[in-house]
Formats: sequence, C-alpha cells, structure tokens
Amino acid sequence: MAKDWTPDSWRSHPIKQQPLWPDEADLDRALKQISSYPPLVFAGEARSLQAGLAQVAAGNAFLLQAGDCAESFEEFSADNIREKLRVILQMAVVLTYSMGVPVMKVGRLAGQFAKPRSADFERVGDDDIPSFRGHIVNGEGPTAAARVPSPERLVQAYHQSASTLNLVRAFTKGGFADLARVHAWNQEFVASSPAGRRYEQLATEIDRALRFMRATGMDTESNANLREVDIWTSHEALLLSYEEALTRIEDATGRWYDCSAHMLWIGERTREVDGAHVEFLRGVGNPIGCKVGPSMTGEELLDLCERLNPARIPGRLTLITRMGADRIEDGLRPLLRTVKEAGHPVVWACDPMHGNTFTSASGRKTRDFEDIIREIEGFVRAHRAEGTWPGGVHVELTGEDVTECVGGADKLIDADLDHRYETVCDPRLNGRQSLELAFRTAELIRTDPTR
Ligand code: PEP
Ligand code: CO
Repeated sequence: MAKDWTPDSWRSHPIKQQPLWPDEADLDRALKQISSYPPLVFAGEARSLQAGLAQVAAGNAFLLQAGDCAESFEEFSADNIREKLRVILQMAVVLTYSMGVPVMKVGRLAGQFAKPRSADFERVGDDDIPSFRGHIVNGEGPTAAARVPSPERLVQAYHQSASTLNLVRAFTKGGFADLARVHAWNQEFVASSPAGRRYEQLATEIDRALRFMRATGMDTESNANLREVDIWTSHEALLLSYEEALTRIEDATGRWYDCSAHMLWIGERTREVDGAHVEFLRGVGNPIGCKVGPSMTGEELLDLCERLNPARIPGRLTLITRMGADRIEDGLRPLLRTVKEAGHPVVWACDPMHGNTFTSASGRKTRDFEDIIREIEGFVRAHRAEGTWPGGVHVELTGEDVTECVGGADKLIDADLDHRYETVCDPRLNGRQSLELAFRTAELIRTDPTR
C-alpha cells in the first residue's frame, strides 16, 4: 500500500495538461455522477494482467499494446471496434507464432480519449483558440466555441468506454477470436498483394502448425483457449479528476484500483517525479506504464522506478520508450543498463510512433513506416547488446483503410494522405501497415540468435 496516498493526494502536486473548465460547479456535478457509476473493470482483472506482464518482464511473454491515438465520439461504431480488434488479433497470431511466447494484448481503447498538447492555444486566422484536448474535453473543430471544455463529455466518455468494453468482451469470448479464423484473415492479407506475399513463408508455417494441432486433437472447437482471448484496456491517465472518480477500493484487499481501465500510463509530458500524475498512479494497484522520451536521464528514470514501484513487483511497471528512430539505440542502452543494475523488474516496450512524427510537404502530420520499423530495429538491437528482453511494441493503429502514415507495402506517398486522413489526433497505421509491422517485427525477433 502506498504511503501517505489518497485518491486525491495528487491535488497538492504541480499538475500539467489539464483543461480550463469554464464552470467548476458543472465539473463537480459530472465527476460526482461518474463516481456513483459502476467500475468499468475489476481489481482482479488488473491483477491478472499484471501477472501476464510479470511474464513479459521475465522474458517469457510479449506485450502488444495498440489502438487509436485518440478515440473519437464520432467514429464510434461496432464496425470500427471490430476492425480494430481484428487487426490486433491478427498481429498477435503472427507474433505468438514467431516468438513462441504468449502475447499480452492490450488495447489503447475503451477510454483513450484525453490528449496532452504541446501548446495550450492554437492560432486560427487572427485568433488564439484553446487547443483540442480529445473528445473527453472539447471538440476538434477550429472555432473558439467548439473548443470550450464541457464536463458533459466526461460522462459521455464513461458511457462510450462502457459500451466499447462490452463489445470487446463479447467479441473476444464469443468466437470472433477463433485462432483458425484469425489465421484465415492473415492468409487473405498475404494473398491479396505482391507485398503481402513476402510473408507467405511465415503464413505457411503457421498454417502447418495449425494443421498439426488439429491432427493431434487440439482443434478450436474443442479447446476454448484457441477460441477465446483476453484483450485488456488501457489509456493515458491524463485527466486526473476523471481517473479519481473511477478509483475504487477493493473490499477484499483494502487496496485502491483505478477502475477506468486495466492498465494506465503516464505520458511523456506529465512524467515529473514530483508531479501530480506520478503521485496519482503510484497509489493505484493497476499495472502502470510510463513513457520514456529522448531527454530521460538514468537518474530520473531510477527515481521514477522507485516512486512508481518501490516494492519492485514484476509486471507493475512498463517503460514505454519513444525516442525516435535515430536516437533509440544509443539513447536506450545506458537506460537499460541502469535499470537492470538497480534490479527493477520492468517491462520494456517500444513506442515507435511518437518520436517519428513530422509534417509532410503538403502540410499533413504523418509518420513514415520505415522510420517506425527502424525504431523497432534499434530497440531490439539495444536489448540484444545489453542482454535484456525487448518486451513489446506500443503502436497507434486502426483497422480501417486510412491513409495517415506514408510508406509500407502499399507505398503510400504524401499525395495519398488526403484520400482518407481521419484521425482526430496523431497519424495511425492502417490495417495493412499494422499487419506488415507484425510480420517485420516477427522476422526481427526470429533472427535473434539468442532466442
Ligand atoms: C500518446 O501515446 O498518444 C502520446 C501522447 O504519447 P507521448 O506521451 O509519448 O507523447
Ligand atoms: Co499519439
């Protein structure tokens, strides 16, 4: 149990990235309402995820954390959720087969709404209007009226999270995740283009493994493990008043859990050791993450590890690196050494997205698929050199056929970005680019002589 911690002890720490709510009384009403609602997840589930992550920390499992940069109130439909789950499941099959270890699947979904911004205001014409902070706060339209923070949105975010999670539970337990079916989708991808055929050999091997399993009686009809999966939820714990409203005590253990999601993480812009976000997350029993950007020092990182996981519980803390393709290998190596020498049992995951964003010639915020792959390569090389386990990847993706990141097998170029650029925040990999990332990551880890 964290010392001197209460669900609201963060309030006496310096805080960043919070909206200026126009009416405190309105905000309080919304928060009170949310705190009276049922929890979205349960403490026991968060502990199960933590046990899985402990296996990742030990090098016996892999973490795939993926989903939207920001979920949208408008793009909210069963189709959209299903396609996102489908691509995550497809990626997981490829990774599980190539690495020969279980893959913990954690969605950036059912609560990934709030966004940190580099500036509080945005210049539109001659005016400075408040920045868009995610649909849980305001609208993205470029007008002052759309950008006024509305506490009603907190309540709507709760309800959207609840129905998203409900559908996720139905899909993952109701047959949608059947291994044979997910593999058939992968075969479709491989057969659908010359680029996909590059991965034919791996897909054929998986096919053979599945036929072997069927022949020995391990078919998906008779074995629930091959038909049902767990997909856990996660988001950046940015709006601390919302998180506090969903933080509940577990009667059986007397411990506090943030029941808005199974896993919560601290963003790169709010990770000060003495800041409010670190204070809040140090006290909840959930597994937590912290982003690690290029400016992180070994000393700072150790302070964070001590503050967030003083008892050194394996799986409790995931460090999500996001340094950029050119910096990751050299930047990560000393940090790996420091954390290892101090004996902190962390999960290391690679976010190859947030250090590789640039503005294209046509003015679109984008990312190049090859930079994303290069960051994963640098991440894996650093771990190999230091004898640590490259535990996972953390990516922004959608199942839809959007055109937001350039490159990939379909060779998207700047001119294609206008075609379907739909993200409400950062550019995401589309379904095909996501699968390709899984195949490329699988190839990388398979060539690891130590595995
Ligand atoms: C994010 O994960 O969407 C994000 C804002 O990342 P970071 O905190 O690493 O910039
Ligand atoms: Co993002």
